Amino acid sequence: MSNLEFPPYIKSERVKHWIAEAVALCKPDAVHFCDGSEEEYNALCDQLVEAGTFIRLNPKLRPNSFLARSDPSDVARVEDRTFICSINKEDAGPTNNWVNPKEMHATLQSLFDGCMRGRTMYVVPFSMGPLGSPISYIGIEITDSAYVVVNMRIMTRMGKAVYDVLGEDGDFVPCMHSVGMPLEPGQKDVPWPCNPTTKYIVHFPEERSIWSYGSGYGGNALLGKKCLALRIASVIGRDEGWLAEHMLILGVEDPKGQKTYVAAAFPSACGKTNFAMLIPPKPFQEEGWKVTTVGDDIAWIKPGPDGRLYAINPEAGYFGVAPGTSYSTNPNAMETIKANTIFTNVALTPEGDVWWEGMDGPPPARAIDWQGNEWTPDCGRKAAHPNARFTAPASQNPAIDPEWENPKGVPIKAFIFGGRRATVVPLVYQSFNWSFGVYLGATMGSEMTAAAFGQIGEVRRDPFAMLPFIGYHMASYFNHWLDMGRRVVDPPRIFSVNWFRKDKDGNYLWPGYGENMRVLKWIVDRANGRGRGTESPLGYVPHYEDLDWRGLNFSKEQFQELMAIDRELWLKEILSHEELFIKLYERMPKEFLAMRELLISNLWRSPEHWDVGSSE
Ligand code: OXD
Ligand code: MN
Repeated sequence: MSNLEFPPYIKSERVKHWIAEAVALCKPDAVHFCDGSEEEYNALCDQLVEAGTFIRLNPKLRPNSFLARSDPSDVARVEDRTFICSINKEDAGPTNNWVNPKEMHATLQSLFDGCMRGRTMYVVPFSMGPLGSPISYIGIEITDSAYVVVNMRIMTRMGKAVYDVLGEDGDFVPCMHSVGMPLEPGQKDVPWPCNPTTKYIVHFPEERSIWSYGSGYGGNALLGKKCLALRIASVIGRDEGWLAEHMLILGVEDPKGQKTYVAAAFPSACGKTNFAMLIPPKPFQEEGWKVTTVGDDIAWIKPGPDGRLYAINPEAGYFGVAPGTSYSTNPNAMETIKANTIFTNVALTPEGDVWWEGMDGPPPARAIDWQGNEWTPDCGRKAAHPNARFTAPASQNPAIDPEWENPKGVPIKAFIFGGRRATVVPLVYQSFNWSFGVYLGATMGSEMTAAAFGQIGEVRRDPFAMLPFIGYHMASYFNHWLDMGRRVVDPPRIFSVNWFRKDKDGNYLWPGYGENMRVLKWIVDRANGRGRGTESPLGYVPHYEDLDWRGLNFSKEQFQELMAIDRELWLKEILSHEELFIKLYERMPKEFLAMRELLISNLWRSPEHWDVGSSE
């Protein structure tokens, strides 16, 4: 590239200087400054169709939608190649990969040198959070992937108006991305370029910059999401006194029209998007109960002028897991992805529509699987990759909350922490207070669901569902949570839920999905100081009569089985927290030891098998 010309709307010298440096380093054939317009989006989609990256779906069945198939080696986030390069190793903590930032910069300089030869460099300005809002952050992603550009247009507020907000000297997070596959002169491109052997997803928390190399997929490449909105934002939140969380945000409206917002953290494969888009059971709907979605994955939570916590969803779209999504598990998601959606690694039907395992109705008699091969239901292979995704605009969700773009955020009354636990953890309980709630979030865990990932039933601790997403020392993050509770007025109540408890024969005890509304209603009542709760060894729990059972045949005995607290199992559970405490020992909050002691003493002094009982 000989002469680099900047569009007149870029006023910031820092931005221009950074782009010029990136061009000199990456040596692209051309530079495209993205303006975020619809014409640009359509032209890039056409170009992706031409290149074989996209297949246009049947416009009658799925208007303005596309299917992409990734390289089979590039299908998910790469946690072992994700680095937090803080100046001090201790600041990254034992749960993150760390490399000295100088050393990492040297590695990245040589990898990025000439990495965009034969390609176009796209400059993608975006805002996490509503454009111009005081709680939003601006990023600029430089990428050599048009797939990334079109996904970023759905997932963020992307376009040239970002430069107006930035002005001459506004702050931004520089995000460098390359698929890591330069083209030699005459070399033919492949539909999904990536680097099959070398991947780096790198964060410099002090510099607040991101460098990603070698992958074109999801959280590795759409740098506004996990990299900026969680890893870098968690560091900014620590420094500025707010929280960047891996949480959905939903609103519950009662028949009187009172709205209560809650935020909830679940590790992957625990039904987070389904919970964010929950449709209440019929009798609740008829009475006027409504659940609305503010966000399905990330929450930025800050004290407002009244000293209470307010949350925004920094994203503008959903990057949801397709398999398992259906009209029976999540009708709102199905409505959201009816049009204007990019599907990645799902199957293609002969009619030119998409299909995946768990979709409604019988499987198609034949299809093309996510790798482009012929597929039939009895071929013994999955049609869609288990991590296949849809990228869809949040505005298409029929249950979108009217306040979802309010720059002030929505007031949070409760936090919910959940995991997948076949035993031990009851359906729901409320922690005694904020500190116990932080302990609860810090020690949350989920069971392995497939033998391949470890022993079935073995619990992986995933504090606050942030294990892969925290940008600094995990125990400092616990301390930050404790501090937040001390700083805010009337901190939100904190709850634990478990939709996945099983009976002795391995059957789920709880129907889940829309029926979770019954638990949510109790949580909302408690958070508003209304519902009744009985003290248990772990926290407050509902009696059978405290949940609304209209329209569901669920006996008191079934409820008791679901809520039982077994002393032996719980003592073992609490002992297993020790493993995490030892790992994080250096910075672990002192308070946690006291809380652990109190929980042990509560359990020790209660009956062997603690039943929630009945108030009658
Ligand atoms: C996601 C994840 O993609 O948590 O949201 O992995
Ligand atoms: Mn997530």
